Amino acid sequence: MDNKKLIYIHPLPVRIWHWINAVGMVMLVVTGLQIRFADIVSLFTLEEAITLHNYIGFVVIGNYGLWVAFYFGTGKIKIYFPTPKTFLPNTIKQMKYYGVDIFKGDPNPHHMTPDNKFNSLQQQAYVGLMFIFMPLQMITGLLLWRVNDFEKYINMLGGIKIVDTIHVLLFFFFSIFIVVHSYLATLGHTPLAHFKAMFTGFEESH
Ligand code: HEM
Repeated sequence: MDNKKLIYIHPLPVRIWHWINAVGMVMLVVTGLQIRFADIVSLFTLEEAITLHNYIGFVVIGNYGLWVAFYFGTGKIKIYFPTPKTFLPNTIKQMKYYGVDIFKGDPNPHHMTPDNKFNSLQQQAYVGLMFIFMPLQMITGLLLWRVNDFEKYINMLGGIKIVDTIHVLLFFFFSIFIVVHSYLATLGHTPLAHFKAMFTGFEESH
């Protein structure tokens, strides 16, 4: 018997934040590619790519504010952090699931609830993403936007070469992240289950 029920897992602000962020980040990668490899990529003129990249960058930064306001304002930010006691066993269980058990059709060891939404690996990935990589990318992006005005801060971080290298390395990271994350998002009970949930808010629990 298929024992399933619907659980409300993604509140509206999270869904709005997520899809603005996803579209924004894809557009930043495309325009960034054009800016960095102007001699190879020619989707826009260089000026158009820079203007678009700057505007979208500010949308993504403002939208990050929505994520912060929602998660810290409601106290739900807890769901991003693993519990020390269960951290190691849950990480091992989840690695075993993705490495072996999923191919045998075994059920996912993590059972999603609104207060315990992410499995251990998702928590680690999303904490790194939202607390380290996104802020670093936004800060270095802002500094590169007005190099002369922000010279003092650029020098505090080690100079323009360092700031630019961090921004470009993270650009490569995000390009790969978007592909891997989109693939992992297909590993629900059906390939589109997690995508639908990120639009409707409701996930089927089996
Ligand atoms: C085309 C690109 C993307 C697609 C198709 C996509 C898809 C999804 C889906 C289906 C989920 C729900 C399942 C899950 O929690 O893993 C999700 C969650 C999430 N995604 Fe994405 N995503 C994309 C881009 C991004 C980007 C660029 C970021 C960050 C830089 C991101 C960060 C997150 C985070 C943090 C969550 C958990 C949100 C929460 O519930 O608080 N996603 N994504």
